Amino acid sequence: MNFSASELSARAMYHWMVGLITPRPIAWVSTRSSAGHVNLAPFSFFNGVGAKPPCLMFCPANNDDGSPKDTLRNLTETGQFAVSIVNEAVVDAMNMTAGAFDHEVDEYDVAKIEKADCVTIDVPRVSDAIATFECELMQAIQLGTGPGGANLVIGHIRHLHVDDDLVDSGRLKLRDLKTVGRMGGPLYCRTNDLFDLARPSQD
Ligand SMILES: Cc1cc2nc3c(=O)[nH]c(=O)nc-3n(C[C@H](O)[C@H](O)[C@H](O)COP(=O)(O)O)c2cc1C
Repeated sequence: MNFSASELSARAMYHWMVGLITPRPIAWVSTRSSAGHVNLAPFSFFNGVGAKPPCLMFCPANNDDGSPKDTLRNLTETGQFAVSIVNEAVVDAMNMTAGAFDHEVDEYDVAKIEKADCVTIDVPRVSDAIATFECELMQAIQLGTGPGGANLVIGHIRHLHVDDDLVDSGRLKLRDLKTVGRMGGPLYCRTNDLFDLARPSQD
């Protein structure tokens, strides 16, 4: 089958997209409001977008009442956020932080997650995460408006934390990360079935 995107509701299009654009890595985003409230939430419309300058992006859609999610609200106020990488060890805690909590609620407390300090930004990071990128807001672009309206957040990576156990001679132990990917709905995947694929030779 095939169809025009304009024939679909935003909700239907969302289901096609999250089912087909898979697996998606999960950004576990920490922010602090200008009033000092800490927030932590997962986002799987997420990826790195180049190393020069080093940037990443994620997409907080608006709440059902059309208001911005706490994450977007906070990082717009302060220009800072931290993105931790989700692996099998923290996936349940990550899921708990996806609840629709009031703005003043600290999801670190709700899910009993230990905080660690960041180096370049005044935002906590997930102590048990395998890695965290400290980011300065480069651009927050409003792509849509109202309920479910999409926003694109681009962060300039200023500092990187990686679990020492996952580094050998300065290189990341790619086979040991146990990162998880989000498929559609409540479906996730593990990364325990890896394979090598050599590039075609250039000569
Ligand atoms: C694995 C996972 C991925 C998610 N990805 C997104 C996403 O890409 N964009 C989005 O708007 N919400 C996403 N959500 C839902 C948000 O985490 C949820 O709305 C959260 O309450 C937002 O928190 P905040 O209002 O504290 O920022 C995701 C939830 C889960 C569990």
